[in-house]
Amino acid sequence: MKLIFLISALVSSIDASKILFVGFSNSKSHLGSMLPLAQALAKRGHDVTMYVEALRDLGELGGGVKHHYIKLQNTQDLSNNIFMDIVWNQEFLPEQMVPPYTMGSDALAEAVEQDSFWQIANQTWDLIVSDEVFTPTGWGLGMLHKKRDGTPHAAFSTTDTLQTLTTMLALSRHPTNAPSYYTPHHPFAWHTKYFMDRVSSVRHAAVEYISVGIIAEWVSRGAIELMGYSDFSWSKYYQDVSMVLIDYPDRFAWPVTQGSDTVYTGSFCRGSKPLPDDLERFVSDPASKGTIYLAFGSVVQWDFAPRRIVNAFVEAVNHLTDYRIIWSYKGKSLNVKSHVRLMEWAPQNDLLNHPKTKLFISHGGLKSVKEAICSETPVVYMPFFAEQTKSALVAKQLGFAEYLNKMTFGAQEVIDQSTKVLNDEQYQKNIIQIKSLFIDRIMDQLDEGVFWTEKVIRYRERPVFFRRAGMLLYWCQLLYLDAFALLLCALYLFSGK
Ligand SMILES: *[C@@H]1O[C@H](CO)[C@@H](O)[C@H](O)[C@H]1NC(C)=O
Repeated sequence: MKLIFLISALVSSIDASKILFVGFSNSKSHLGSMLPLAQALAKRGHDVTMYVEALRDLGELGGGVKHHYIKLQNTQDLSNNIFMDIVWNQEFLPEQMVPPYTMGSDALAEAVEQDSFWQIANQTWDLIVSDEVFTPTGWGLGMLHKKRDGTPHAAFSTTDTLQTLTTMLALSRHPTNAPSYYTPHHPFAWHTKYFMDRVSSVRHAAVEYISVGIIAEWVSRGAIELMGYSDFSWSKYYQDVSMVLIDYPDRFAWPVTQGSDTVYTGSFCRGSKPLPDDLERFVSDPASKGTIYLAFGSVVQWDFAPRRIVNAFVEAVNHLTDYRIIWSYKGKSLNVKSHVRLMEWAPQNDLLNHPKTKLFISHGGLKSVKEAICSETPVVYMPFFAEQTKSALVAKQLGFAEYLNKMTFGAQEVIDQSTKVLNDEQYQKNIIQIKSLFIDRIMDQLDEGVFWTEKVIRYRERPVFFRRAGMLLYWCQLLYLDAFALLLCALYLFSGK
């Protein structure tokens, strides 16, 4: 018996692989998106390390995942004035995509100066998984190790894959097939059947192509050269990766094309824990009609919020006295009544799953969208940046959420939209339906992600997926523009005289 145990322990340790995850510098949010897969792989017995460059210690990761943080001194993170001004006061536009790529590149430039970086770079790995956005360190390490040791590598979309990057993957996703990240806030609506909506989608796709496809590629290439890999381009990167793991839900209205190599791994629900005693006592007050949970994620900083916005929320929550309100808030002290509790950190998933929780007021970050769906909690969204606007719009179209415009709303809108969702049970019926579609699958989507990851490791240099031949073409060739130009020339020549 002991012998069998020993042999099986030996076998499983032989199968265990060394996997490196590389995340966007300073980003707890992106790290958190990759963590479930990293933890699931660690649970399978693999040796999993998460590498992130950061100004601050990002803490333990749990679930058997090791961390390797590189200490930054000078690189900016997203909590700077310029970005926070965009967050609170402006529409998010595709031309604003360049700065985070610069941050990622600056972080890499700082990292290569440190032995701690080379400890990671000099090791051999069985697989390198890199954040797909803003992370030149990960793309460079992946391509370098593939060239050097034949190590497979993969991209991980911590958000919805950018339109520009789907072009590099030759997925033929037409920009007008789904709302874009940059959907205007007013009016908060989009449909492909409207001409002007399609025009705005195409404009966003074109500007994003210039920002990300050209400028960010150039910035990132310069940084990647510092680690000794000089041939980076998006197109080469996507030809080089074995697959793209995607955290965004694949069933969230507006279907888009997929490849066998786009592995969606984020549509799963996990359980929740009971609340701490004092919080449980607070929310289970018999006088309360239910709990409202207000949280805007880890990136949005309240200290940078205009007075107008803070005052509107304070006035609104103070007005909703029939409810207990938990507000995940870090900033200057606020004057709120006793039915409101401010918490610097709240157990979000456990609160949303609590039976008394009736409404989530959220920024629409991807993890929050999924936690709302899993806990069947209707939402009022106030989106700020990145895919949040798209997610909020789709949620509204699917009938489980309402919307607040960060640039124009006041206390009354918060009260009106909240009461609307609280008093109409259709919102909850809709989210229950969405949840059933979200998790109704042949197998759990996280397990599926683990399956494909292990298969990519096992196959190593052999291909696992069919790749599209279009990935070898320039975009003008892929869109037949060269053939079309020839035709036009021919027509012109023959009709000339
Ligand atoms: C990494 O490898 C390079 C080249 O082989 C070597 O010069 C360097 O000292 C190594 N660094 C570490 C920290 O292992």
